[in-house]
Amino acid sequence: MNNPYYLTTPIYYVNAKPHLGHIYTTMLCDVMVQYQKLLGKDAMFLTGVDEHGDKIVKAAASASLSVQDYVDLISGEFQNVWKNLHIQNNDFIRTTEERHKKVVQNILQTLFDKGDIYLSQYEGYYCFGCERYLTEKEMDSEGKCPDHQIEPEIIKESNYFFKLQKYLPRWETMLKNNSNLIQPDQYYKEILGTIHELMKTGEDLSISRPVKRLQWGIPIPFDEQFVTYVWFDALVNYISALDYPDGEKFHTYWPQAHHMIAKDILKPHGIFWPAMLMAADIEIFQNLYVHGYWLGLNDLKMSKSMQNAFNPLDLIHSIGLDSFRYFLMKEMTFGSDSKFTDEALKNRLNQDLSNNLGNLIQRTLSMIKKYCNGNIPPKNPEMDYIIKPANLLSDASKNYHSCMQTFQFSKALDNILEIIDLLNKSIEEKKPWALAKTNDPELLPFLRLLMDGIGFCMHYMKPFLAEKFRLFTEITGLTVRENFPGKLQEILYNESLPENWEILFPRID
Ligand code: MSP
Repeated sequence: MNNPYYLTTPIYYVNAKPHLGHIYTTMLCDVMVQYQKLLGKDAMFLTGVDEHGDKIVKAAASASLSVQDYVDLISGEFQNVWKNLHIQNNDFIRTTEERHKKVVQNILQTLFDKGDIYLSQYEGYYCFGCERYLTEKEMDSEGKCPDHQIEPEIIKESNYFFKLQKYLPRWETMLKNNSNLIQPDQYYKEILGTIHELMKTGEDLSISRPVKRLQWGIPIPFDEQFVTYVWFDALVNYISALDYPDGEKFHTYWPQAHHMIAKDILKPHGIFWPAMLMAADIEIFQNLYVHGYWLGLNDLKMSKSMQNAFNPLDLIHSIGLDSFRYFLMKEMTFGSDSKFTDEALKNRLNQDLSNNLGNLIQRTLSMIKKYCNGNIPPKNPEMDYIIKPANLLSDASKNYHSCMQTFQFSKALDNILEIIDLLNKSIEEKKPWALAKTNDPELLPFLRLLMDGIGFCMHYMKPFLAEKFRLFTEITGLTVRENFPGKLQEILYNESLPENWEILFPRID
């Protein structure tokens, strides 16, 4: 198949069960992958878990389980959640798998052999939450890690270092030549600033941990006294899952690689990873996309360590998967933070889905039942002029596509919501109930145009509302032909509606 597309989520730590933050990132990627498939792309979607490091060892101890049993348990939970949320990942990578370990060791050996890794002493502030050394600038005014609200520990030890500095100038030039590489723009600028600072300090990246402090990691191939630092291990997942270096998947998908992360892990992805790729002579990814945080009650980033994480599984059970997915994708402006509240959820779902889209569908189907004996009127292109949106659809679809390509899903949906709004207004203006009374010849073409408008909107909402799309298709037989991402070619329906149908978007209280 042509046209490969490769998208990754971060691999999540298994020190906690998945919460809203992990679910959001994974759904965001799933929507993109569904969209890419509509574009006809051969989309490969990777997610997985990060199973090494101090954090995991501590979590296993507090659960009174062996580390292996513990990682098996939580990684199984992640896989279950993705299955229950209908996430269509093609692979699930675990960093304790042999296929991953051997690639990490291969890269370490390559870099060591070419002189890019050396042994040295290091002293610095280590945040165990972030699993990395923080600079003083990165700490808050009380000297704490802003994300984990704990004071980093001062750690002094011998470790292997990767010559990060050697690759910074080249990375900086690449970024300056391509300002779309990291999106949205505020994160692109942040990374340029961080490169600048790092160049001033001259720091390299510590990539090992002494075995006497930590055994739960991938052994450094050239020195058994050390295991690999979690970030150096974890980042490699994006290529170990493709069977780097010789795998067919690597050759097919890596040239079209896109990464999605939240801003908490911008530095490892925006600096360490490209430098590692350059050192290993591997092409850089196409884009790094960065989203903001879901904030918890205390307005801090939602996380297990802050005890403000929200597990939405019960909520999803009660309001339905599609509605939940729609809410997350519509509510958060890509790149900014958002707060999850019951009020926002209720308002958004009732307004966008129940009142606007749901009402439009219900009214239109009911009128077809009442005025046309349930027979969906055929197309009558000569009558296209009777409804304004017919001309606006091509603009809406153009805007929709350009927003979708860069994860601006909220904006993409605005274009569709506008069409729904126009269709509802056109019902008020045209008053089909009055046309029916006088047997006006515009009635049938008008109802058909409403159906075409609805088909258009449902089609574009499919990556967000897959189940509702399926139900609507079951009721009406909708088939859409499109030359993605171009013009809608054709919207086809069954000849008639069934006797009864399910209300697609009931109100929530
Ligand atoms: N294991 C590392 C990532 C290694 S990737 C090579 C890690 N894991 S994590 O479990 O902490 O996951 C962090 C990611 O989870 C964030 O980048 C984001 O994708 C998601 N989120 C976790 N909490 C979040 C919020 N409160 N809000 C939005 N997304 C968040 O870091």
